[in-house]
Amino acid sequence: MDNMPRAVKWQDDQLILLDQRKLPSVEEDVVCDSIERVFESIKTLTVRGAPAIGIAAAYGVLLGYKGQSAQNISASFDERADYLISARPTAVNLAWAIERMRDCQRRHHNDENLYDVLVEEAIAIHEEDKKACRAIGDAGLALVRENPNLLTHCNAGSLAVSEMGTALAPMYRAHEEGVKVHVFVDETRPLLQGARLTAYELHRTGIDCTLISDNMAAHIMGEGKVDMVITGADRIAANGDAANKIGTLNLAILCQYYQIPMYIAVPLSTIDIDTRSGDDIVIEERDPEEVKSYGGHPVAPAGVAARSPAFDVTPNNLINGIITDKGILEPPFDVAIAKVMGVSDG
Ligand code: MRU
Repeated sequence: MDNMPRAVKWQDDQLILLDQRKLPSVEEDVVCDSIERVFESIKTLTVRGAPAIGIAAAYGVLLGYKGQSAQNISASFDERADYLISARPTAVNLAWAIERMRDCQRRHHNDENLYDVLVEEAIAIHEEDKKACRAIGDAGLALVRENPNLLTHCNAGSLAVSEMGTALAPMYRAHEEGVKVHVFVDETRPLLQGARLTAYELHRTGIDCTLISDNMAAHIMGEGKVDMVITGADRIAANGDAANKIGTLNLAILCQYYQIPMYIAVPLSTIDIDTRSGDDIVIEERDPEEVKSYGGHPVAPAGVAARSPAFDVTPNNLINGIITDKGILEPPFDVAIAKVMGVSDG
């Protein structure tokens, strides 16, 4: 699909990000010319979505290194890598991509052309993500064919990855195949990634969608309008517990009540076998101002207390399946995850 927006581009040794804070009203690129700018872009959600921040960081860690000796690059690489990892804690893809770059730097620290080798590695991460998204789309296609009335939360579409998305990939594939798909899009308070980003990209690509506020999901499910829920995730623990945008857990609980299948779609890079369960996932706590205002306009009394945890954890027993680039994982997830990740002792 040619009209899908692209979140991250690498052109002439420059990192270009589509400014997702301004969508859908303004489509504007930001050129990142320093690692500080990349850090800020990840922190402020100029670029967001687990795989997209990993890809942006893989390129971003290289900014300013062109023309420098391998020795100079290697002298500051670790510090820069750690700095970028610290931008957001929950999405494992950020650390995963940076660790892969670090590993490449260590293996090639004496190569004269270290910069070029690192650029190739970042491009490989980006290209592999594209393939993974298409494979997720293919893996989930049959499910969407059988359950074409969907509901999703936040944005796990093209804007959150290299292209196509994770949760949205099976919907895009079904649409390509001529299946009449309809998607309810949760607006996703507090930062409205559903309204601003998912509705934007589905609408732009011609997929039938209806925007709802988050508190309407139960009512719509009760009307029998939802066959299946698919969301993305920022980190899946070894036992299948899944951290995703705050409000995903609400949907999973509703799905159990209404007997609606709940699927999570991720590339394998979102599965963290070193995190045993959801209890061990660090949940990013953001500025409560994000809840107390929107677009700079207050929506609550200035002095009132507020909180803004950015993610919640859906326990594995509320998840029917995990759609990955290596097929659909089914419970028991600890066994399925150990197998797909090549961990022998589960
Ligand atoms: O805070 P965000 O917008 O980065 O949160 C994004 C999500 O929760 C997505 O669902 C998740 O990263 C998966 S993206 C394929």
